[in-house]
Amino acid sequence: IRSVGIAGVGSYVPERILTNDELEQMVDTSDEWIRTRTGISTRHIAAENQATSDLAYEAAKIALEDAGLKAEELDLIIVATSSPDMLFPATSCILQEKLGIKGKPSFDMEAACSGFIYGLAVGAQFIATGIYENVLVVGAETLSRLVDWEDRNTCVLFGDGAGAAVLRPVEKGKGLLSFYLGADGGGGDLLKVAAGGAALPASCETVENRLHFISMKGNEVYKFAVRVMGSAAVTALEKAGLSKDDVSFVVPHQANIRIVEAAMRRLGLPMEKAFINLNKYGNMSSASIPVALDELYRTQKLKEDDILVLVGFGAGLTWGSAVIKW
Ligand code: ACO
Repeated sequence: IRSVGIAGVGSYVPERILTNDELEQMVDTSDEWIRTRTGISTRHIAAENQATSDLAYEAAKIALEDAGLKAEELDLIIVATSSPDMLFPATSCILQEKLGIKGKPSFDMEAACSGFIYGLAVGAQFIATGIYENVLVVGAETLSRLVDWEDRNTCVLFGDGAGAAVLRPVEKGKGLLSFYLGADGGGGDLLKVAAGGAALPASCETVENRLHFISMKGNEVYKFAVRVMGSAAVTALEKAGLSKDDVSFVVPHQANIRIVEAAMRRLGLPMEKAFINLNKYGNMSSASIPVALDELYRTQKLKEDDILVLVGFGAGLTWGSAVIKW
């Protein structure tokens, strides 16, 4: 079994910024409510001609450059997304075409906001077993297309973006030290896009009933998130043979500042150890962790051998955590 690390990272958010003040004009909300309840001030929204694969492409290019690799050197592409360009073909195949390569296996993974960590864990297996050398894992979302812009409970929360990582073999004892994944399908109703799939195909009725949009029982998701974020982080640390005192940075899923604060309290770590950018981007689902990781990396605060804990939760319900020695 080989050790696997992140050889390059990249991220991209669309240019258009949607402010809380603008949302005040759209639904019955206020900048004050959004900031105090969520910590979010702005989010980025894809242009009309941009889909998830376009955001993924921009992030992937930067990650490849950072890793010093050409697209044709990739052995596998995994895209984690809940807002694919289409039901099929997979967004990863569309991304592959945009990257100008052919023949390499490409597939999508759907684990909602935990998607990037699931993708990281899956991609790493192919390298650990010696099957592949270079794996691209992208978390990309255009959630603005799934948001009901008349529903104040959800429309203030989400944003569009993409983050990418290139995985490669690294020296023993470095890179991905452990991961922990979980799911509870019993919580599927708490957060979903009900229609448009095989269970409830598109019809006039599904459109009228707004069933193609995200619906969420926010309070329930909140409670689940607080519980699972802390315990998932601890489990991954234990699997790596480490404790909270070894942690240099936590890169949490960026859903709500209060969730992160509660999770950090449960972990017994100060907020300074959490990397936060949800104020700028809102919840970008599978993109939020890799975009945060890329921004943390580009702050140049990350040092060799730093211990990072990536931890997220999402629809499914799903959760995942990973410990990385940088
Ligand atoms: N502006 C003003 N008022 C609002 C808004 C808004 N944008 N949204 C909701 N409210 C109202 C509600 O209608 C409710 O009013 P009511 O009491 O008259 O019914 C009131 O605010 C309080 O609602 P609460 O649910 O108690 O608010 P809470 O403090 O729980 O915050 C929030 C709501 C922000 C949604 C929180 O529950 C949360 O963050 N939940 C987790 C959501 C999440 O992380 N989702 C993503 C999961 S990841 C994935 O897979 C996509």
